[in-house]
Amino acid sequence: MTAASPGPAATTGATTSPAAAGAATGLAADSATVPATEPTTGLSTEPASWRPPAGFDATARTVLDRCDRLAALSSRPDGIERVYLSPEHAAANELAGTWMREAGLSTWQDAAGNLCGRMEGRRPGLPAVLLGSHLDTVPGAGRYDGILGVVAAIAVVDRLRARADALPFAVEVAAFADEEGTRFGATLLGSRALAGTWDERWWEHRDAVGTTMRDAAVAFGLDPGAVATAARGAEDLVAYLELHIEQGPRLEEADRALGVVTSIAGARRMLVTVTGETRHCATPWDRRRDALAAASEMVLAVERIARDAGSPATVGHLRVEPDAVNVIPGLAELSIDLRDADDDARDATLALVLAELDAIAARRGVAVVVAPTHVAPAVACDPGLRAAVRAGIAATGAIEPLEVYSVAGHDAMAVAAVAPIGMVFVRCAGGISHHADESVRADDVATAVDALEATVLALAATRS
Ligand code: GLV
Ligand code: MN
Ligand code: MN
Repeated sequence: MTAASPGPAATTGATTSPAAAGAATGLAADSATVPATEPTTGLSTEPASWRPPAGFDATARTVLDRCDRLAALSSRPDGIERVYLSPEHAAANELAGTWMREAGLSTWQDAAGNLCGRMEGRRPGLPAVLLGSHLDTVPGAGRYDGILGVVAAIAVVDRLRARADALPFAVEVAAFADEEGTRFGATLLGSRALAGTWDERWWEHRDAVGTTMRDAAVAFGLDPGAVATAARGAEDLVAYLELHIEQGPRLEEADRALGVVTSIAGARRMLVTVTGETRHCATPWDRRRDALAAASEMVLAVERIARDAGSPATVGHLRVEPDAVNVIPGLAELSIDLRDADDDARDATLALVLAELDAIAARRGVAVVVAPTHVAPAVACDPGLRAAVRAGIAATGAIEPLEVYSVAGHDAMAVAAVAPIGMVFVRCAGGISHHADESVRADDVATAVDALEATVLALAATRS
């Protein structure tokens, strides 16, 4: 472990186990939605000001406080942003590493910058049930996307350690270093390193200021030549379980705290470069080859075609050169993120989009080049793990869990290359995510941790 040092004495209250006992959590009925807007004022080293009522579930208190503390590790004062291989990434690993060790995990930072922890089962060296999610964020992020899954996993291990010598597997926690892919274009970097699907070409990807991933990794203290050592084999892992906020409104609409994820959409991302001619704004209409006007038509075409096809698609990045008020843009660059539950359906939509981009470019006399930056196939959650998640949710006394398909991408997609995957979704207010308004109910968090613990125990029961 290079990033973290021994932590302070344990202060967590995450030691009781209502789920294991099958007991109610004793949650206050008024346990309110955690106000996610507070953090904008609370982005200091202090937790946000929300405090659960007296007698509130101790684990939920700890988990939410820890999400607040990680939110303070941001590269910007006006919101949360923590990208791969940044000083904030190192600080988050350091902090979460102390929590892991307090929970009884031995820790290390792997060659891709993932923070990992392990607790042995009934004998040393058993394959592990891996729990986890990611610690990186998008710009202007909320405080729960990814983070909640890591912090909840640590809380579950803290509870399980008293019975670790009865477990038929080890339990590990992975705090993945890059799931969002916002710094270097490629995405799911941490989980792909763990799954052994790292692509050496990624080292030459550059961030917005021109730093290559290779240079950033070396500055972070990693050895790019050693990245293969982060890979785990199928023989190392019994299962991967990820708890994550839903990032959609279906649980809230159905009045359910938790959901069982059925599958995760397959995604493609690409960078589209439109090249026209940079000219004075006095240029007559018939002599213009305006890259931004063409790109604007392309953005609307992506929306129209994808909507008609039922494949979620987003243009989230647009850059213009020379970006001056009185100059016709000679270059425009846009991103496309296209997803679908079915890879063939997604690719059929993409073919329609690409044909339309070509048609727009031809009509406007500009050139268009499309460079793929990411592809991930749709992944189904393992039937056995879906059953375990369902049993885990049932053990909390929650009403019948909803089965939901995930449009959002998750580390589980990459880990699926080496282990069966299962996911628990937690309701988030308004389905809002990738925004500071991301918000969860504290009582849902308490139930979610109970359910994840009970899922691990359900899995243990099937293997004992
Ligand atoms: C990650 O949040 C994604 O779905 O892109
Ligand atoms: Mn995200
Ligand atoms: Mn996420």
